[in-house]
Amino acid sequence: MRTIVIAIDGPAASGKSTTGRLVARRLGYLHIDTGAMYRAVTLRALEEKLPLEDADRISALAEKTQLRLEKGDNGVRVFVDGREVTQQVRSAQVTRSVSAVSSYQRVRNVLVREQRRMADGGGVVLEGRDIGTVVLPNADLKIFMIANVPQRVERRKKDLEIAGVDVDSVTLEQEIRERDRLDSTREASPLRKASDAIEVDTSGMSIEEQVDFVVARAKEIIEGGGK
Ligand code: CDP
Repeated sequence: MRTIVIAIDGPAASGKSTTGRLVARRLGYLHIDTGAMYRAVTLRALEEKLPLEDADRISALAEKTQLRLEKGDNGVRVFVDGREVTQQVRSAQVTRSVSAVSSYQRVRNVLVREQRRMADGGGVVLEGRDIGTVVLPNADLKIFMIANVPQRVERRKKDLEIAGVDVDSVTLEQEIRERDRLDSTREASPLRKASDAIEVDTSGMSIEEQVDFVVARAKEIIEGGGK
């Protein structure tokens, strides 16, 4: 049977990661959370105490860091230079700093090369901000996921509570809006919908509905044999 490449893009907490993971599971595909890769480089930059404005040193660090993503029971496990950093990459400090690090073209070059390598051969679901536009413009299925801000805040609050972190909704909303602003206005591969992407507004949808929708579109392509 034909295996395809699925690209899911969208802003923070729009439902990409959960959908990506479950779609990959349903199809028996590999799930690649590219945000986790930008987060891992950001964590390393913070550990090295590099100023976030220092594009050269952060880029050099990205070029020499070994990243590895592994499938875990509840999402992706992240390793840098052989050390597991799955929890650390979700910290508030990394979340606040990641948009700066991911705005550097050299950082993106390193990670995009790796993402394309992992996607080679198909049978993959990649999610991020620029998958359908820059990383894999020929992806067979492109989904652009959005949701209204109150729902995104609510979802992120629940995720954090599960991780034992209590953050108030006002702060979360500010952070989400700021990250949207930075991610969509940067020069290098800004967040935007590819012209041939299907927009899915997940505001009123359950996780199961989101997953069913994407799997149904994927099956049409797989079984239909065309795009
Ligand atoms: O999970 P969440 O929606 O909070 O974000 P993420 O997918 O983990 O991505 C974290 C950050 O990495 C984003 O805010 C972007 O700045 C950056 N990113 C990117 O620039 N390009 C991607 N393909 C994926 C993430």
